[in-house]
Amino acid sequence: MTDTSQATLSPTKRAGSRKVFIKTYGCQMNVYDSQRMGDALADGGYVATETMEDADLVLLNTCHIREKAAEKIYSELGRIRKLKAERAEAGKDMQVAVAGCVAQAEGAEIIARAPVVDLVVGPQTYHRLPQALARVAKGERVIDTDYAVEDKFSHLPHSQPAQLRARGVTAFLTVQEGCDKFCTFCVVPYTRGAEVSRPLARILEEARRLAEAGVREVTLLGQNVNAWHGEDAAGRSIGLGALLYALAEIPGLTRLRYTTSHPRDMDDALIAAHRDLPAVMPYLHLPVQSGSDAILKAMNRRHTADDYLRLVDRIRVARPDIAMSGDFIVGFPGESDADFAATMRLIEAVGYASAFSFKYSPRPGTPGAELPGHVDEPVKAERLARLQDLLRRQQQAFSEGLIGRSLSILIEKPGRRPGQVVGRSPYLQPVVMPESAGAVGDIVTARIVDSVASSLMAEGASETRGALTGGVVAA
Ligand code: 5AD
Ligand code: SF4
Repeated sequence: MTDTSQATLSPTKRAGSRKVFIKTYGCQMNVYDSQRMGDALADGGYVATETMEDADLVLLNTCHIREKAAEKIYSELGRIRKLKAERAEAGKDMQVAVAGCVAQAEGAEIIARAPVVDLVVGPQTYHRLPQALARVAKGERVIDTDYAVEDKFSHLPHSQPAQLRARGVTAFLTVQEGCDKFCTFCVVPYTRGAEVSRPLARILEEARRLAEAGVREVTLLGQNVNAWHGEDAAGRSIGLGALLYALAEIPGLTRLRYTTSHPRDMDDALIAAHRDLPAVMPYLHLPVQSGSDAILKAMNRRHTADDYLRLVDRIRVARPDIAMSGDFIVGFPGESDADFAATMRLIEAVGYASAFSFKYSPRPGTPGAELPGHVDEPVKAERLARLQDLLRRQQQAFSEGLIGRSLSILIEKPGRRPGQVVGRSPYLQPVVMPESAGAVGDIVTARIVDSVASSLMAEGASETRGALTGGVVAA
């Protein structure tokens, strides 16, 4: 999970084009959606700008998962109101659009609360952005948050090869959207709607296009990505495991990842893909949320702590070096000290390489918000601090355990300091190396010499350019 990031079109110059500034909040799915909204806008003649002050159109792609994330949008809109007034004084217009999950959940309320907003567009309707903006240009304030029946992806223009190249050697690819699980704390089933899988052929076509543009690593995205299902050419029903086998055949795509998975949908074929396919990276984000069966039940997770632990054992049999990652919520209604202690025990039993953890944030309209036994804020804060301390120690132990070993690293970009490049380990850690290690897009084998904060440091790499490997190469 990222917090906020800028996602843009590649800034190219075209005389007379309107400029768009896109700001992305929340998960990787939003990063991907921002790129696709960028494609739709590029088709309508927009070019990207990195400065909001210069923008004819400001587009906020928002997140509604916790209250804090949603509130950020309103403070940003306050700042934009001032900018819009300054531009108006200079005789220039600025259109303001709110997209994403806050748009879906709050629709008309945004228009009422923030008069600066011209357009509210939901996660399922952004392929209609150009038409909606044309209505805005005529002076309308538009809300477009229907659940569009048509598949938005088939109505979006393809990303242009130049744009894909500008985005780098790793890419996101949404394969599944929405969720039918209805965990009682979560807004996703309401903001993103019912679970929908994109067809196999479309995914393969998009993946081939990415590989042709130089992408080496694709991360498949979905709120419940391992619920993905499709049909193969013979009309047989297939799941995410089979999709990974098909993607691994595409020349140039040497690394595959997927996120976020639900424990209930981790089937044998998917676990086998971790065992059989070197392209499937040994990293798995598998949220458990709590280690207490009573809380898991109240959360409607539909698995016990023991189910999860047994599942992790099976995955580790298939791929012993897998780096486990998870999400945790502390202070869900009714969570006692004993429930929290059970979560700490589960974390000790699994040993996470990375994790995300949050204080429970009641979301209007979700069943969790109506439950009795809300936990006091100081108790939540204290539990979160203890839990994060344990997770930090586990992350550090995992990273330090790699010192002295040789890993395959995909070089992604130049480093912050001159003379350095930054890549990713198979376990998703950033790795800082001397630039003599290789060029962006190379997959090299390098020895890890140190672990600093959440990054690894590696020494000059051996020449395995373009090598196809996952995980530890040699001890
Ligand atoms: N409060 C706190 N954390 C939440 N998450 C989802 N909804 C809430 C909520 N209401 C967390 C879960 C989920 C991650 C994306 O965000 O841990 O896996
Ligand atoms: Fe939300 Fe994930 Fe639960 Fe779906 S499975 S309701 S997206 S937490």
